[in-house]
Amino acid sequence: MSDSREKEACVITGVAGFVGSHLAERLLSLGCSVVGVDNFFSGRRENMDGFKDNPAFSFYERSIAEPRLLSQLNENHPGLSTCFHLAAIVSVPYSVEHPEQTMDLNYHSTVSLLAEAQELGFRKFVFAGSAAEYGDDERLPLREEFASEKTRHLSPYGRAKFLASQRVGASPIGVALRFFNIYGPRQDPNSPYSGVISRFSDMVRSGRPLTIFGDGQQSRDFVYVSDVVEAYVRAAGLDESGSPLSCGIYNIGSGKSTSILDLAGLIRDLSGCGQPITFQPERAGDIRHSIADSSAFFRAAGWTPSVSLHAGLKTTLKG
Ligand code: UD1
Repeated sequence: MSDSREKEACVITGVAGFVGSHLAERLLSLGCSVVGVDNFFSGRRENMDGFKDNPAFSFYERSIAEPRLLSQLNENHPGLSTCFHLAAIVSVPYSVEHPEQTMDLNYHSTVSLLAEAQELGFRKFVFAGSAAEYGDDERLPLREEFASEKTRHLSPYGRAKFLASQRVGASPIGVALRFFNIYGPRQDPNSPYSGVISRFSDMVRSGRPLTIFGDGQQSRDFVYVSDVVEAYVRAAGLDESGSPLSCGIYNIGSGKSTSILDLAGLIRDLSGCGQPITFQPERAGDIRHSIADSSAFFRAAGWTPSVSLHAGLKTTLKG
């Protein structure tokens, strides 16, 4: 391991979330120190069980809306150099009900954190963008430049993520990663709007039928959480090559399309369960198909997803 990685001091906002907790584990295993922030709006304390006692980890129960947050953290932990900004309102329906709060947190707070990171001399600011930034664009696979001021965003969540990604991608220290459908262990299955894989896994475990909204022919691009974590590591230049990545906006997806019906079948086969599949009315506001062109990130960082849906589902179902 290189010296630079051992000494890298990172901040993760949203560290108690599904992805944030996996990222913390990986950075700690690389020898980085991690200062984690979460206010448990949607994060869960138990997600940090695997690393909360690691001496290289410090936790702050704080909101990203607090002014001068990074400066205060930097006073306690001088030398912070990379910020992974994952904390956000993550529920699309919540964002529809609370558009102002969503804009404040997902956009304005991001801009403030980015400015503060720059002021403090951070090396990199890596932001969690979303496929929702493409709205209902039907040009597939989706390429980064398709999201623009003209995009019809389907929610305040999508709009705020788009505006924030634009600002981050234009900053000399910024990288915005637009994630497609992330799945893996620790994803919360408990809301009707939780990711479909976490819901199907939960249905299998509790012996309930797998519920498909609509005809099941809609498709998504599912990317496994460890591939997402690897994308974060490379975006920050913390991988083996350690080569600095150009700032900008990059899609992160598997580039493979899976229909929800095929997904349900695969989960049934893998779990060996005999649960029936039931169909319910299509979910309002659902897009039909979504798939990423992640070639820009491959060119910039050499990243390709390495976990197949089959392998990722097996691990997720065990979790
Ligand atoms: C995902 C994101 C969302 C983002 C959007 C942008 C997640 C959890 N959500 O939504 O934040 O705005 O991408 O493109 O990653 N489905 C079922 N049965 C279920 C649950 C879902 O059939 O029990 C269907 C849905 O109707 C949908 C598909 O599965 O057609 C995927 O749903 P979901 O996992 O919620 O993700 P997205 O809708 O793609």
